[in-house]
Amino acid sequence: MSTAIKVENLSKAFWSGNVRIQALDGVGLQVEEGEIFGLLGPNGAGKTTLISILCGLTTRDSGRAEIFGMDVERDLPKVQEVINVVSGFSGVIHAITLEEMLRYYAMLYSIPEPEERIDEVLALVELEDRRAEWVSLFSAGLRQRFFLAKALLNRPRVLFLDEPTVGLDVGMAVKIREMIKRLGREGYTILLTTHNMFEAEALCGRIALIHKGRIRVVGTLREIKGAIREEKVIEISTDGGAELCEKLQTLEGVISCARDGGNVRVVVDDYGRMKNLMALLAKDGPRVYSIRLVEPTLEEVFLELTGEDHGRR
Ligand SMILES: Nc1ncnc2c1ncn2[C@@H]1O[C@H](COP(=O)(O)OP(=O)(O)OP(=O)(O)O)[C@@H](O)[C@H]1O
Ligand SMILES: [Mg+2]
Repeated sequence: MSTAIKVENLSKAFWSGNVRIQALDGVGLQVEEGEIFGLLGPNGAGKTTLISILCGLTTRDSGRAEIFGMDVERDLPKVQEVINVVSGFSGVIHAITLEEMLRYYAMLYSIPEPEERIDEVLALVELEDRRAEWVSLFSAGLRQRFFLAKALLNRPRVLFLDEPTVGLDVGMAVKIREMIKRLGREGYTILLTTHNMFEAEALCGRIALIHKGRIRVVGTLREIKGAIREEKVIEISTDGGAELCEKLQTLEGVISCARDGGNVRVVVDDYGRMKNLMALLAKDGPRVYSIRLVEPTLEEVFLELTGEDHGRR
């Protein structure tokens, strides 16, 4: 398994009139081949800027940005062969059919056997029966599937998806997510941005939170959630009383146990202690209605790390 995306100390500032905006401020990031990696952050955090630099659409001020070891500026033609991008905000040309659009892109990408590949990508995004229709008249969902088809034409090893489900209804968003999942299983490396925490949880193995041009935290969901809350709490909804608490407290790894309404809150040193808890509950026989790990939601993590900032962006 090799490293697909490597970013080191990457910085980029824009000028807006006389105002300098530091869009990226020393970003470091590494995405391994085959990962679906989520990039989350508030509006203006720098997500699209990072993707634009990695795709060779924007130049950087300083730092490193590589795709499979190739520098995204110096080796751009080679990089372009192995990447593609879907942005939630792309436009389409009027009065051109889906098939014609894909032929046009296939030509730009110098795809060998374009007709064959067009059939394949249309099947992948389930648009085979729409090929003769104008893309400009497509609904947002169909349009997004067209952009995905376009982005798959060159069999990219790295796919950048900038807010792939923005503006879509629930059903269509689910469909797009299923497609992304399938691409992940097929081995595509995917860097995805989203404002939808549920989407990030559902799709991404690892996630980075970016805020004001800096990566604040990177890791699996579990790691990220652990990063803001040391305490590991198991909440048991039960009719067991003080006696149960006493017993639970004798278990290894249980730090404290307290009743809280109809719940028993058990603080443990590791969620792996769950097994012993379950064994005790099974043996001792109080009624148990539910057991859950009380973890912060990704949303809570996000708010805690990006803080009270509602400044200009
Ligand atoms: N071409 C540009 N000229 C001037 N400023 C820009 C340009 N592109 C981006 N910026 C600024 O850089 C900062 C980062 O923007 P960017 O689009 O990367 O954020 P983002 O994380 O993608 O936000 P969103 O979630 O809203 O898409 C913002 O303050 C934005 O206004
Ligand atoms: Mg953006």
